[in-house]
Amino acid sequence: MYTVPQLAFRYLQYWLRASNGKGHGTHSPFIYAFITRVLNDKNQYGDYSRVEGLRKELCHDKRSIRVEDFGAGSVYNQARERKVSSIARHAAKPRKYGQLLYRIVRYYKPAVILELGTSLGITTSYLALGNPAAKLITLEGSREIAGLARQHFSRPGLGHIELAEGNFDSLLPSLLESTATVDLAFVDGNHRMEPTLRYFEALLPHATNDSIFIFDDIHWSLEMEKAWAVIKKHPSVRCSIDLFFIGIVVFRREFLEKQTVEIRY
Ligand SMILES: C[S@@+](CC[C@H](N)C(=O)[O-])C[C@H]1O[C@@H](n2cnc3c(N)ncnc32)[C@H](O)[C@@H]1O
Repeated sequence: MYTVPQLAFRYLQYWLRASNGKGHGTHSPFIYAFITRVLNDKNQYGDYSRVEGLRKELCHDKRSIRVEDFGAGSVYNQARERKVSSIARHAAKPRKYGQLLYRIVRYYKPAVILELGTSLGITTSYLALGNPAAKLITLEGSREIAGLARQHFSRPGLGHIELAEGNFDSLLPSLLESTATVDLAFVDGNHRMEPTLRYFEALLPHATNDSIFIFDDIHWSLEMEKAWAVIKKHPSVRCSIDLFFIGIVVFRREFLEKQTVEIRY
């Protein structure tokens, strides 16, 4: 992973290169709608406070749990015993991105959502509340973390979340065998090049014209930047949107020419 100064430098480069979204009239209808209806949607949805209430509770939870490290580990703490509060503070996507994912789901209404990396279920809750009618499957390998997330999913409005416990590497192939299409995938675990590309390749046959795949931490390390470069260039990807902390790809045939955009967010 990059050091903080390296990451800050990359962020600065992105910020200077990226569009501020203001000239969005020149974009395709898909990107125009994404910017105006999703990215810049400033409504304070009531669901936000429900998830932020859960985050607040977890950020004050001083219990220690055992954490198996399946992926690229944590930047902050690689110990096997971790406080729930530390996991909630450092592993979950911050409010700004959780709420963006909520709006993406709310606007595009994906029927089948797959999340790789549940952690305590904070972002899963945003995804779930965005479309209560969706089939939402989330994968988590760390047993005690999964146990805590499962408890949260018994709360109102989260009953449709299915948590599959185990390593992505073994769970994903069998899960995809029984899943025709994946309308939205959020890949937020095991941030290394080889597994990220393997998950992308496994998900690809399940993508439809309208599917949206979202990759977390695409600039977190050189490996992740390489993975993102390969994903963007893949012939089935028709448009990629780089928001620095997440990268979004879509497969819409309406993009006659591939589009790669960086938007300040
Ligand atoms: C960054 S956290 C997910 C955060 C969550 N999406 C959120 O925003 O609230 C990544 C999670 O993926 C899990 N994970 C990483 N690699 C995995 C693997 N190969 N199999 C199963 N779980 C894995 C970790 O245990 C960790 O809880």
